[in-house]
Amino acid sequence: MILPEFRAVAYSQTTLTELMVPAYANFGGKIHGGILLSLMDKVAYTCAAKHAGNYCVTVSVDGVNFLQPVEVGELVSLMASVNYVGRTSILLGIKVIAENVKTGTVKHTNTSYFTMVAKDESNKPTQVPGLILENREEVRRFLEAIKRKEMKSLFQEEFNNAKTNLTIEQELNRLEGERCKVSYLNLPASRHK
Ligand SMILES: CC(C)(COP(=O)(O)OP(=O)(O)OC[C@H]1O[C@@H](n2cnc3c(N)ncnc32)[C@H](O)[C@@H]1OP(=O)(O)O)[C@@H](O)C(=O)NCCC(=O)NCCS
Repeated sequence: MILPEFRAVAYSQTTLTELMVPAYANFGGKIHGGILLSLMDKVAYTCAAKHAGNYCVTVSVDGVNFLQPVEVGELVSLMASVNYVGRTSILLGIKVIAENVKTGTVKHTNTSYFTMVAKDESNKPTQVPGLILENREEVRRFLEAIKRKEMKSLFQEEFNNAKTNLTIEQELNRLEGERCKVSYLNLPASRHK
């Protein structure tokens, strides 16, 4: 298939709706976070592969915070949309909502961001179509994705430096007030702040 140079966001927007059956529940009776992550990966793949016109792989997942529990019997809908494209990468936003069909209550459980990369027949990253932004919302999401990418790489760089420069002996005082006990050194147990 010959790929177009650009594709609209709407071309690949995908919604996946799934009933939360008892087999998805944890011992507390709520839906396992892993089930939701798996569904998020599925909808992200569908959306990315449609935009790319190629097989895609998940490279990173950002901003996964489960804000509210999901109950057995609820209908979970996952909405995926391409926010940004690089040369071979696609950044998607995934919004997850859970609906109680009896009461009609809808809750927003989380919004997360996936990075997928398109692969060719020989498993090498391959170019994806550019993105046609058809309204202000799509422009806003594209710009936000650029900021998220920049801040993520800044954070990664700073964190790597912090890890390299971390000296246990010099930073032991930071454990004061934390709920831990260093058993191999003769230190008093920390008191929680
Ligand atoms: C991600 C992967 C394709 C990168 O391969 P690579 O040979 O390093 O390719 P490149 O350096 O050319 O990077 C390709 C794209 O991935 C992006 N990328 C690489 N690592 C990334 C990361 N950690 N976070 C976000 N994007 C990343 C690059 O920015 C580049 O995007 P661009 O082309 O739009 O600029 C490769 O590491 C891979 O296949 N990983 C395994 C993915 C997988 O199997 N996932 C399933 C879960 S197990």
